[in-house]
Amino acid sequence: MQSLKQNSTAMTSSLLVQTLQGKQTDRVPFWLMRQAGRYLPEYRALREKAGSFLNLCFHPEWAEEVTLQPIRRFDMDAAILFSDILVVPYAFGQPLEYAEGEGPVLDPVRTRDDFDRLVFDADKLSAVYETVARLKTSLPADKALIGFAGSPWTVACYMIEGRGKTGFPTIQAFAKENPEDFSILIDKLSDATLIYLERQIQAGADVVQLFDSWAGLLTDENDFINWVVKPTQKIIAGLKQKYPHIPVIGFPRQAGRFYGLYAGQTGINGLGLDQDANIEQVFSTVEDSITLQGNLSPEVVLKGGTEMEEAVLETLNTFAKRPYIFNLGHGVLKETDPEHIYRLSQIVKNYKR
Ligand code: CP3
Repeated sequence: MQSLKQNSTAMTSSLLVQTLQGKQTDRVPFWLMRQAGRYLPEYRALREKAGSFLNLCFHPEWAEEVTLQPIRRFDMDAAILFSDILVVPYAFGQPLEYAEGEGPVLDPVRTRDDFDRLVFDADKLSAVYETVARLKTSLPADKALIGFAGSPWTVACYMIEGRGKTGFPTIQAFAKENPEDFSILIDKLSDATLIYLERQIQAGADVVQLFDSWAGLLTDENDFINWVVKPTQKIIAGLKQKYPHIPVIGFPRQAGRFYGLYAGQTGINGLGLDQDANIEQVFSTVEDSITLQGNLSPEVVLKGGTEMEEAVLETLNTFAKRPYIFNLGHGVLKETDPEHIYRLSQIVKNYKR
């Protein structure tokens, strides 16, 4: 496998880590959520060879290769481990499948008994740590390696609903009607997520991101505090105790009205913004010490052309006064032309504040 190591530069910390430490670097670092995946023909080829998505995730050499594919093409400042947030339920023993055209399908867990039976076995994910370790060796020192996990709330949405395609119509009612049972699941997930991220850091992750894709479903402030803020705070406090130098990015998607609360109380270093974020409100409620990341619309990147080019520049200008990581507001869409990503990468790299 072709390594990228030959491009390696001096052992200074990466642009991404410096930015997450609050530094205003000359060039804006960038990476994209779902930068590896089906929009790339080389991904589709390896995905086909692997047979199933989980096979790809649990085969360290392939997962390493897929992680590096976008870096070779677009020279992002960070590589994100290729895996999925639902490997945590898998390591809890919950049967998981990725059905064609359907997305993830799990045997739902819904009762106190179901929750009590869940036991997290971190060693079931040893292939993931091996992928991280391989990437640590193959990546040049100026590229950050991002590890990740789903946040307890978002992972619980999938565990209880069993699928994600139709949204999570019953999850809020479930949490409201069974708060004690639900907190057992959330506590188990918080403990497991901490262990899982620690293992990724031990294997070589430089930064970790918590994906809370469904945080926006919680519109009540107390619910948001209980199911998003507190578990996230607990995970980050655990991480910081052992690894104070590892920055954490939180991505509470669609939870704009609670950004101030989330950024102020969870202990994150970076806040991922979705495309609907109200930037004026972000600037006034999120402290300057928090690095911002995001928030270009993936649909705009799908369209490409001058509209995209202008939007990339506008995004860069908007955040020019703060430590900022260029990214999208959600993942790259699978229909995206890789040429659009290339164009985007050129604009971001040539941008001067
Ligand atoms: O490049 C990267 O960002 C790293 C890899 C990554 C994947 N999933 C690969 C993947 C990451 C960080 C994720 C996170 C993830 N997974 C989230 C949070 C971010 C978000 O998108 O909101 C969520 C909610 C999931 C759960 C999940 N996994 C869904 C809903 C799906 C199906 C939808 C889809 O896009 O097909 C997956 C499958 C998945 N995860 C794929 C990839 C590349 C596609 C599977 C395939 O190739 O067959």
